[in-house]
Amino acid sequence: MSHDDASRPSPAHEHNRRAWDARARHERRFAKPISDDEFRAAIHTFDPAGWLEGPLAGRRLLCLGSGGGRQSVLYAAAGAAVTVVDISGDMLELDRAAATARALTIRTVQASIDDLSALDPASFDVVVHPVSTCYVPDVLKVYQHVARVTAPGGIYISQHKQPTSLQADIAPAARGYELIEPYFRQGPLPAVVGSPHREEGTLEYLHRWEDLLGGLCRAGFVIEDLQEPLHAKPEAPRGSFGHRSQFVAPYVRIKARRLGGEKSPRAIVLGK
Ligand SMILES: C[S@@+](CC[C@H](N)C(=O)[O-])C[C@H]1O[C@@H](n2cnc3c(N)ncnc32)[C@H](O)[C@@H]1O
Repeated sequence: MSHDDASRPSPAHEHNRRAWDARARHERRFAKPISDDEFRAAIHTFDPAGWLEGPLAGRRLLCLGSGGGRQSVLYAAAGAAVTVVDISGDMLELDRAAATARALTIRTVQASIDDLSALDPASFDVVVHPVSTCYVPDVLKVYQHVARVTAPGGIYISQHKQPTSLQADIAPAARGYELIEPYFRQGPLPAVVGSPHREEGTLEYLHRWEDLLGGLCRAGFVIEDLQEPLHAKPEAPRGSFGHRSQFVAPYVRIKARRLGGEKSPRAIVLGK
């Protein structure tokens, strides 16, 4: 492959960029900026598990695949120096508008999560990455790029769609939810309509656990914690998001640390 081929966006990237531009224009799910009420409610509660390890003031924070005007303004209001990366120019425009409305400063960079060559090496103390790895074919490439831009000892918090959730049917069967998509597979998942678990119009990929977790370790991170955000609702009607979530957790959230630096496990073990 020539250099030009390697740097040219793939058809999947172009497809998803257009799909998310359209979602932003039509204010679809995950493409609506934070409201003033949500902002007031979230400004002191966006880190319930303490994964960010204290105040953000002065820390260099990358909001990765995080356009839409939600996370970036919260972290900027908390004092972080925020950079938002997203493939969709229209999603980034929502961040710029949300920041301007609150007199906050953020930097926006239109790029794909699997090509962060526009960012300097080791230039972030914290990387926060909401769900977006499902839109790229190769999660390992994402991790390698995140490893390059994260400072030694830096924190990488990422959320992903769980593979089982991407395999399971939306509609309930007699006893639960059947796995209708293979786990070992090539290429994007089939298109869906009306799924609360998938974004219509986008191309999505299933990433296996060995890549989601093993890939992080292979890229130079150590996993420090892991959560499955609770969406199960015991009283929810059959077939609803809350009902299906009793059988299959939709998401996984991972806290990882870039190796190197005084907080890396090796340095702690060696007393350095
Ligand atoms: C589910 S949203 C997550 C962010 C959103 N603000 C939220 O509500 O959490 C997914 C985001 O990933 C972005 N995205 C999709 N493919 C991407 C890629 N290859 N590189 C960077 N961003 C991408 C979309 O434009 C969208 O902003």
